[in-house]
Amino acid sequence: MLGRLNHVAIAVPDLSAASAVYRDTLGARVTEPQALPEHGVTVVFIDVGNTKIELLEPLGENSPIAAFLAKNASGGMHHVCYEVEDILAARDRLKASGARVLGDGTPKIGAHGKPVLFLHPKDFQGTLVELEQA
Ligand code: CO
Repeated sequence: MLGRLNHVAIAVPDLSAASAVYRDTLGARVTEPQALPEHGVTVVFIDVGNTKIELLEPLGENSPIAAFLAKNASGGMHHVCYEVEDILAARDRLKASGARVLGDGTPKIGAHGKPVLFLHPKDFQGTLVELEQA
């Protein structure tokens, strides 16, 4: 079921400052910011060849990463995203095994225009897991 690591996401308080660190200090190519109101975040991606880094900044009043940044003021690793071939089949299999899918279990469209779901960190070693249909 589990496919490639699509990206590692890092929540940041200031997306343009974080982008500058990756671009200027680390010499990486950073995409243009993309607002995802349905997810409450603005994102950029950095392609590092074998995977991507996603930088997330809160967007709007009820951003799901606001509480995380309140606890981690300078930012921190927020989630990992694995690819799956069939997100509905993956969801059903996970639910049958007792894992908790966040929200109502209906995939949302993610930053790459593909369906995504998030899994409860308490069921996965304290790590928020995103699944993206490849
Ligand atoms: Co992500």
